[in-house]
Amino acid sequence: METHEPISPDTRAILGLHLPTDPRWVNLAGKSLEEILSDHAYCEQKAAVSCISLIQRYNQKEKLVIALSPIVTEEWGHFRLVLAELQKRNLKLGLQRKDAYANALFTFCQTGGAEEGRLLDQLLMMAMIEARSCERFKRLSEGLEDEYMRRFYRRFMESEAGHYTLFFELAETYIDKEKVRKRWQEWLEYEASIISKLDVRGDRIH
Ligand SMILES: [Fe+2]
Ligand SMILES: [Fe+2]
Repeated sequence: METHEPISPDTRAILGLHLPTDPRWVNLAGKSLEEILSDHAYCEQKAAVSCISLIQRYNQKEKLVIALSPIVTEEWGHFRLVLAELQKRNLKLGLQRKDAYANALFTFCQTGGAEEGRLLDQLLMMAMIEARSCERFKRLSEGLEDEYMRRFYRRFMESEAGHYTLFFELAETYIDKEKVRKRWQEWLEYEASIISKLDVRGDRIH
């Protein structure tokens, strides 16, 4: 996963996010490494679990199953990398915290109606979390004082940029592109409103 390629167009696309992360966040995160690594570990775990549950729920959608199967492995690999980093530093995986960001996004998902709408929102919510995570990792990869940690986060940034695109493309595979783009704009607006309301905390990835 080690890479020093220039920022890919995929990564640039995350600038489609309406609100950049508060610049104070990276300094706070740099001061609470144990907490930020723990929270990050849980994010990776949740990403793997979410992919598994999509595969279970949509087991007849072959492209989705095939595309997401390797992502489960990749996210789990990310979890193990973060866990190894904690161990290496004699730090503990803390308790899982309430994920205010993901919970707020979840309330924006359609829960009733046709399957198409529900699938669309589940995929776009995943794309949203990947895009924001990618942006946060970018901040860490540019703003942390420790060079090793800057490189550590650059690898995650590249990886999550690919995932963001993958979820978006999966949505376009099953649902009309116009609909996907329209709903994505709504997601971007909603996500910005959430980000503006959440406290800036150095012990959280989001
Ligand atoms: Fe990941
Ligand atoms: Fe990811």
